[in-house]
Amino acid sequence: MNGVTIEVDGTGVEVPEESSLLTAVRAAGIELPALCSDDRLSPAGSCRTCLVRAEGRVAAACVTPASPGMRVDTASDEVVRLRRDAVEVIVSALPPRSLADGGPGELAHVCRSMGIGPEAAQGVGGRGGDESHPYVHLDRDLCIACGRCVRMCSEVQGTFALTLVGRGGDTVVAPGTGGPWAESDCVACGGCVDTCPTGAITQPGPARGLTSAFHPSQARTRTTCGYCGVGC
Ligand code: FES
Repeated sequence: MNGVTIEVDGTGVEVPEESSLLTAVRAAGIELPALCSDDRLSPAGSCRTCLVRAEGRVAAACVTPASPGMRVDTASDEVVRLRRDAVEVIVSALPPRSLADGGPGELAHVCRSMGIGPEAAQGVGGRGGDESHPYVHLDRDLCIACGRCVRMCSEVQGTFALTLVGRGGDTVVAPGTGGPWAESDCVACGGCVDTCPTGAITQPGPARGLTSAFHPSQARTRTTCGYCGVGC
């Protein structure tokens, strides 16, 4: 393996060439929020929750390549505040129930780690949901438009069933066909449920919320068949 060695908060860490700073930071054992990122997907760099200071400038770690000798700061008051601000902006648009009782998803985990409580969630909701599909339900009020589900559906599953619609704070995931989920091209692979960081997309029934309860770094693929590229 050709590696790249960089310094993260004063400690050297080696990662494969073309790794992102996010990969390097995590390899150094440092937890960094990354709400629009999933190791299985191309980076989007849209949520700004993974900000660090690298070589004198503030950068989104998920879309910044690690280059030899780079020095990265994840812990200064400045970048900690910037990441917290980014998370608070996202949370402020969600209804309080998004963080009630701790919440099972990655966003709730990030908020707990930052000491951000349900009082930060001040959205009024009212965008409704889509429970037309027997295996995939959508709660639009919990969607943060991170796009992970869209990329999972296209890049991993190859189905291209999902898209983002709307503008600004009204942006939300939707079936690309425009109608209800049940009439979309969704093949119910569960990839969108698995990557959703907020519980906006869930699997109904006894397993509801289970797959979105874990951070992607904890995900384990056991089998992958020709029908569905996500793995079970
Ligand atoms: Fe880096 Fe969203 S995870 S910008």
